[in-house]
Amino acid sequence: MCGIVAAAARREVSEILLEGLRRLEYRGYDSAGMALIDQEHGLRIHKRKGKVAELEKAQREQPYHGTTGIAHTRWATHGEPSGVNAHPHISGRRVALVHNGIIENHATLRAELVEEGYEITSATDTEVIVHLLHRSLAIGGSLLQAMQQTVAKLEGAYALAAIDTQNPDTVVGARKGSPLVVGVGIGENFLASDTMALRQVTDRFIYLEEADLVCITPASVQVYSADGREAKRPIARIEEGLEAADMGDFEHYMIKEIFEQPEALEATFAGAINAQKIEERFGPAAPALFDQVKKVQIVACGTSFHAGMVARYWLEEIAGVSCVVEVASEFRYRKRVQHAGTLLVVISQSGETADTLAALRNASADEFIGSLVVSNVDNSSLVRECDLVFLTRAGIEIGVASTKAFTTQLVALLMLTLALGRRRELPDSRQQDIITALQDLPQCVRQTLELNEAIRLLSEAFIPKRHALFLGRGIQYPIAMEGALKLKEISYIHAEAYPAGELKHGPLALVDHDMPVVAVAPNDELLGKLKSNLEEVRSRGGELFVFADKEAGFANEPRVQILPMPHCPEVIRPIVYTVALQLLSYHVALQKGTDVDKPRNLAKSVTVE
Ligand code: F6R
Repeated sequence: MCGIVAAAARREVSEILLEGLRRLEYRGYDSAGMALIDQEHGLRIHKRKGKVAELEKAQREQPYHGTTGIAHTRWATHGEPSGVNAHPHISGRRVALVHNGIIENHATLRAELVEEGYEITSATDTEVIVHLLHRSLAIGGSLLQAMQQTVAKLEGAYALAAIDTQNPDTVVGARKGSPLVVGVGIGENFLASDTMALRQVTDRFIYLEEADLVCITPASVQVYSADGREAKRPIARIEEGLEAADMGDFEHYMIKEIFEQPEALEATFAGAINAQKIEERFGPAAPALFDQVKKVQIVACGTSFHAGMVARYWLEEIAGVSCVVEVASEFRYRKRVQHAGTLLVVISQSGETADTLAALRNASADEFIGSLVVSNVDNSSLVRECDLVFLTRAGIEIGVASTKAFTTQLVALLMLTLALGRRRELPDSRQQDIITALQDLPQCVRQTLELNEAIRLLSEAFIPKRHALFLGRGIQYPIAMEGALKLKEISYIHAEAYPAGELKHGPLALVDHDMPVVAVAPNDELLGKLKSNLEEVRSRGGELFVFADKEAGFANEPRVQILPMPHCPEVIRPIVYTVALQLLSYHVALQKGTDVDKPRNLAKSVTVE
């Protein structure tokens, strides 16, 4: 989603801003822009539709210089991707502004401003903000005061950064509902939507809180809380982020991140040598809260929602805890009835997903005994607002398609299952079996990664196809859903997942020689039933690709290709099979020539509704 970088320095900042934008490209965007205040205190602006490379080209052809500036990558919400709609937006040739989020009352504000004589040139919801700033500045006062007056009029979500030619060494920012961090330097300070953008210039960050305003100059950082008082916010030192941006020998971040999974999984459960140690990973308040849990309500979006669906099988089967799972965009707007003793669990790689955050915020204390987040990003909004926190240790994930974040979420949720199971008399031997299975997991994933070439060969059959079906049963059904999501998002092949038993209730009508059917078939108690479902596909001319435990008794036959998977403990199979499906999508996308790391129309961190 949109990205912001801003700088107030004593040195030239155009290259810092462009590098920041390059480092934010992973978030997904469709246009980019940059505004600098030049030596004569004039605004210099480049805006381009398309990639940051286009903006760099514009800057090469017509170099602009300045020590104060703002830059932006835009993911279109209001108005098509175009140079005109790209940020920064300006008003009166004096103020420039970049914005992440959505302003819900933009139409009312627009009418008000037009009435007063402001000319609105773009189709965005953002442009009204810069005119409001200009209007406040025109009647006197500082840029900070103008920002305070402006945000008071806004309804919706925003992270903002603005510059004013009459305050040439200052950048003012504000956030509500969208993240914004301050990068603290020596003789220079910065703003950005995430720390990644600024890791080349600093390792010290201030995470702004909801409704904070901030004013930076080369020499100072001042933060103000919603009530207008100056606020003290701690400075955090971040170590991660420099190496993550390096692709090493890999062709894409996605494949690098797929191959990082053994270490990421290991790091996520490291030290969990017994179930008591596992509870500690959820924070000191966890044991007391876990004692009260009678039911779990999981809320998440996309891939994280699939992790929740897998967890439901574990929580009910292993821990004996009732569990329901819902996508956040539905949950947040629904009238709900909760049972006493329900724990709210939100899952989010980024910790910033707008719908998941809104779901947490509108969940009342009457409904839930407490909240737990599983996230990959420390200090994210969800992490700051939940009672209990489990941080996965996937490391920064740059590829838009979630891979290592998903499998580490599954590890976290299996650990939650163990922690809750212990409080419901899950036998010690079963607890130990699960811990041993977790310890085997990195090796099972390594064995799956060795199938990379075999999966690449298998993927060739998908290149000419326009549709694909994914089938699974039981706990492998959400894994089939995740496989289908991965294939559609990066290869643009339309893919759907079904529980295999549902096939003859409709989707079987789609099956012909042009419809590849991928089946996830581990060697569990549902295998016999799955085999019958697959026969139904084969006898209708469908082409089957079966990811099967090598001990499951499948063999290649005409129109049936088997991918023999390593034999591994049953409880971790959903994680292991996911890795094989990630490789399948990656190779299909690679051969189709799509933009694997930045698939069209998608964003990494979905900070708008
Ligand atoms: C798909 C994908 C998305 C995210 C979803 C939620 O590969 O990455 O479906 O899972 O946008 O994002 P988070 O987990 O950050 O809340």
